[in-house]
Amino acid sequence: MTHPRQERTLIIIKPDGVQRSLVGEMIGRFERIGLKIVGMKMMLAAPDHVEAHYTLDPQWRVKTGEKSIKSYKDRGENHPHGDDPVVVTGIILDKLRDYMASGPVIPMVLEGAHAVSIVRKLVGSTEPLSSDVGTIRGDFVLDSYTMSNDDERAVRNLIHASGSVAEAEQEIRHWFTEEEVAGYRHIQEGIIYDDLDHILGK
Ligand code: PPS
Repeated sequence: MTHPRQERTLIIIKPDGVQRSLVGEMIGRFERIGLKIVGMKMMLAAPDHVEAHYTLDPQWRVKTGEKSIKSYKDRGENHPHGDDPVVVTGIILDKLRDYMASGPVIPMVLEGAHAVSIVRKLVGSTEPLSSDVGTIRGDFVLDSYTMSNDDERAVRNLIHASGSVAEAEQEIRHWFTEEEVAGYRHIQEGIIYDDLDHILGK
């Protein structure tokens, strides 16, 4: 059985995060809450690799299309691409592939107690227009689904973060080999998890 402090999540700093020089700002937020970086690299992602990432969950196409259609319905509007969730997601996915493969990205594996939920909280909700102030997306980006759809591009939201522990496990395997993820002890774990024997050298 694993201890809660061993929970891992995947984040990907997207091409706009790199191009806007927000890499240090974002990593700093994860470090200062006490999460441990156990994997990190910069790479150019192939379009097929991006598509495979988003479709790891076979339900993703349906769920994403439904969410997108609902966001229009909630405003009393019809979705510009109709009411078939799979068709809507197909269009989103084409744009996501172009966006995510347009420049270097930085996938990272973060470890710590409640890593998945803590990172989602720090990152903020998917659409920057409704992300809370104080979150990465709420503080640093001003895009919306309506504007990005009108402009026929993917929404710019700086960073991806896994949505659940199961999703994180799949996504980590998709972006990292086992050798690229480092198991090590970080000195601050002693104080965060009350592991004082380690600090006192007992
Ligand atoms: S999330 O944050 O994982 O819950 O997002 P989810 O709704 O499951 O997945 C949607 C991903 O598609 C990206 N995207 C868009 N979604 C809806 N509408 C538009 N126009 C759109 N453009 C891009 C969205 O950013 C999610 O990707 P990630 O990488 O998770 O942010």
